[in-house]
Amino acid sequence: MNTELTSSSTTCPTTAAPALAILGSARSEGNTARALQRLFENLPCEVVDLNQVRVAPFSYSQQYSDDDFIGMMERMVEAPLIVFATPVYWYSYSASMKQFIDRFTDLLYSRKDLGRRLRGRKVAFLTTGYAPQPNEVIQAAFSSFCDYLGLKQVGMVYAQEGAAFFDEGAVELVRAALRQTEDLKTVDERVESALLL
Ligand SMILES: Cc1cc2nc3c(=O)[nH]c(=O)nc-3n(C[C@H](O)[C@H](O)[C@H](O)COP(=O)(O)O)c2cc1C
Repeated sequence: MNTELTSSSTTCPTTAAPALAILGSARSEGNTARALQRLFENLPCEVVDLNQVRVAPFSYSQQYSDDDFIGMMERMVEAPLIVFATPVYWYSYSASMKQFIDRFTDLLYSRKDLGRRLRGRKVAFLTTGYAPQPNEVIQAAFSSFCDYLGLKQVGMVYAQEGAAFFDEGAVELVRAALRQTEDLKTVDERVESALLL
């Protein structure tokens, strides 16, 4: 796993659980990686770069050797927020993101247990492209994917290459979702330590 891009929060340095971002771009330090860093500036986010892990194409046989997908999924079901980050390539997901998303089919076959744990998890979608406006086709596909798996969408963020975010309101929704989880965690920890006293 590539954790090089992991950043820590300055406000909740040790206790906050990081968001888990899946970066699916043909370049690991390109526009999408940069947009992701801007999105989570000063908030804890662990980035898994699909260029650095092994995610095999979906197989009906459900036989995968030497593959990181299930390990990633086990981290995902624990993450307070999951972010799918992809450039728009030919009006669609990047190839690595599509291959990754196809593997969620495993959760309907051999790993229904993980599929159940994934339900209700908070997710966000980040896309980048050359177009001034977000691509509605890819956003609709992502929404349908979330609906099917029972994922809770907190926001869709778009950045045109080299430009500011398209919709700052959506950016705030995503950041707020992560902060909210941190706040809840902090309250839990305060209650826990009070009970220990
Ligand atoms: C193969 C390819 C296809 C692309 N297709 C589109 C497209 O359909 N719509 C769009 O807005 N931008 C398109 N772009 C531009 C990229 O989405 C944009 O530059 C993006 O920010 C690149 O992110 P990256 O640096 O993470 O790869 C394409 C770029 C590439 C390389």
